Amino acid sequence: MTRTLITGGAGFIGSHACVEFVQTGQEVVVLDNLSNASLRSIHAVERITQKNIPFVEGDIRDADVLGKLFHDHEIDSVIHFAGLKAVGESVEQPLKYFDNNVNGTLRLIEAMTNAGVKTIVFSSSATVYGTPEHCPISESAPTGAVNPYGRSKLMVEQMLQDLFASDPAWRISLLRYFNPVGAHASGEIGEDPNGIPNNLMPYISQVAIGKLPFLRVFGDDYPTPDGTGIRDYIHVVDLARAHVQALKFLRREPRIAIHNLGTGQGYSVLDVLKAFETACGRKLPFEITDRRSGDVAESYADPTKANCELEWRAEFGIEKMCADSWRWQSSHPEGFAD
Ligand code: NAD
Ligand code: UFG
Repeated sequence: MTRTLITGGAGFIGSHACVEFVQTGQEVVVLDNLSNASLRSIHAVERITQKNIPFVEGDIRDADVLGKLFHDHEIDSVIHFAGLKAVGESVEQPLKYFDNNVNGTLRLIEAMTNAGVKTIVFSSSATVYGTPEHCPISESAPTGAVNPYGRSKLMVEQMLQDLFASDPAWRISLLRYFNPVGAHASGEIGEDPNGIPNNLMPYISQVAIGKLPFLRVFGDDYPTPDGTGIRDYIHVVDLARAHVQALKFLRREPRIAIHNLGTGQGYSVLDVLKAFETACGRKLPFEITDRRSGDVAESYADPTKANCELEWRAEFGIEKMCADSWRWQSSHPEGFAD
């Protein structure tokens, strides 16, 4: 039976994708170097699905590991999540990001080529739109990343476009995620950031559990209804399901395609805080501070293309995103270390 290789499958989005692939009757094998994940997430996926998940600890830049993986398993497609994603760190250590994200993907593509596997779904990001001219953002909007992380995503997109132009036998899905949040409804897997979180939802979760004293709201003077930044938060389970649909799409339509993955609905920082207060049942302290450098006022998707072509639609709203984040955080205050 053929399998899908899931790189970065022990991570936040990858572990949720494993659940969805297995629960739709597909065979997977996970490759992860555990640089930002715990093997416990794979064990949790096994508990949720009641299936054994073949796991290889290794790096996408390691040709020997990849060669053996493609030799040992009958792999016909790759869902490629493995990569680094911290914007601030990418500014401080850009080469680490170009090596891991760009060179890593190049090595993966070479190994796929050697094995005759030509179907890949790539985790891109709405960050490739830089400062959007207007919202909602469609796939035809101009791109222009504003930090090394974003540029690494754009470079990989361009590399894959050039690859397809040179060999149309490839089937390539470029998925531009907006803001993934939430957790599996079981409370068994979720986001487990190292140190103090950079992103809004894990930060609020840690205020709610008492690990952090208050939320800093980065600016209330944006040209938005309440002055705080607006984003398109998408439940990680909806996002994971879009990958199942993207692979089905590539099997139907052998080509390269770009899709935005978002709900199309924007929420402000204060909207999210309010929804989280409802989920956890108490008021959460916050302070308004200066804007964070590099932040845009608003970013939300036009998801029409994904809705039509992938036959997919985000189902879960902000209430469930917060309720599921809270269930995960409150049952695992220390993440997978618990
Ligand atoms: P994550 O850090 O939880 O998952 C990434 C996984 O890849 C981790 O398990 C890590 O150990 C692994 N990994 C990293 N480098 C590797 C390498 N060289 N070889 C093997 N494994 C490696 O992050 P996530 O939030 O699940 O993100 C998954 C993908 O989606 C990333 O490519 C990220 O850039 C992209 N993305 C994430 C977001 C977001 O906000 N979470 C938004 C847009 C795009
Ligand atoms: N925010 C706060 N306080 C915090 C954290 C965030 O007010 O402590 C605000 C931000 O200013 C922004 C909103 O909450 O208005 C969302 O911020 P996040 O850091 O959660 O998300 P971003 O939209 O800034 O960035 C995310 C990912 C990036 C990715 C980008 C576009 O972190 O990797 O989406 O996909 F590039």
